[in-house]
Amino acid sequence: MPPVLTPETTRDIHIQHLSKSFEISSGLLFRVKGTLDAVKDVSVSVKEGDSLGIVGESGSGKTTLAKILAGFLQPDQGSVTFGPLDLLTIPRQDRAHVVQMVFQDPFSSLNPKLLLGTQLREAFKDKENVSDRASGLMMDVGLSSDFLKRYPHQLSGGQRQRFAIARALAASPKLLLADEPVSSLDLSVQAQIINLLNKLRRTKKFTQIVISHDLAVIANLCDHILVMKKGGLVEQGPTQQLLRSPADPYTQRLLNALPIL
Ligand SMILES: Nc1ncnc2c1ncn2[C@@H]1O[C@H](COP(=O)(O)OP(=O)(O)O)[C@@H](O)[C@H]1O
Ligand SMILES: [Mg+2]
Repeated sequence: MPPVLTPETTRDIHIQHLSKSFEISSGLLFRVKGTLDAVKDVSVSVKEGDSLGIVGESGSGKTTLAKILAGFLQPDQGSVTFGPLDLLTIPRQDRAHVVQMVFQDPFSSLNPKLLLGTQLREAFKDKENVSDRASGLMMDVGLSSDFLKRYPHQLSGGQRQRFAIARALAASPKLLLADEPVSSLDLSVQAQIINLLNKLRRTKKFTQIVISHDLAVIANLCDHILVMKKGGLVEQGPTQQLLRSPADPYTQRLLNALPIL
């Protein structure tokens, strides 16, 4: 049965004690050498409609955490509740109407052989009036509906990311996961996509989790920040507070890496 979320349901997210390790194999016969704790006992809550940023250097476990939420990976331990729902027990297909993910490289997440219109129409759960709704959604992300007659390779990087966002929103997700959403884009285009995500969160009222190695991106998109290092939680707090007085030297280092504005 698809998950039941009525308009009255509060949809705060509570992630509790989430852990995931991978077996590391190497050498002859790929013998298992040990395990790597990609996500280690991470707990965090996100209020409905808020935007949480997860920041940390490469390899800190950010994508693994997102993949668990989206249903691409099973955790070893922990729970995730989304309002009344136990998110981890919702099958992938049904979960797509609760959680959608936008990836760093929109090219690899889009089907190169299908027209954008076909890909967008497929993403709607309810098929009524899909052509009009597809055009409307294109407008929402700043693209002309003429793009629906194009293939992914006929778009610029920024346009492709706009389309990837439209396709994610077609499923009417309550939670949008954006994993390095602007990392593959030029600086000026990064700013446009950041503005777009902020506008869409206001108008479409989804909860958002943004993942980035770049604290500047997170600061512009998020109300709260969680800092990760080697799978573990370093610190978390409201954006302004965390930027003003980071408690941990690791966060301080991420801050020092920012260009002076
Ligand atoms: N499928 C996998 N098998 C083995 N190790 C993995 C796998 N996915 C990720 N890892 C390892 O887990 C750690 C965290 O990876 P990831 O979540 O992608 O980090 P981040 O997104 O913060 O860069 C890294 O050391 C990575 O090499
Ligand atoms: Mg990653």
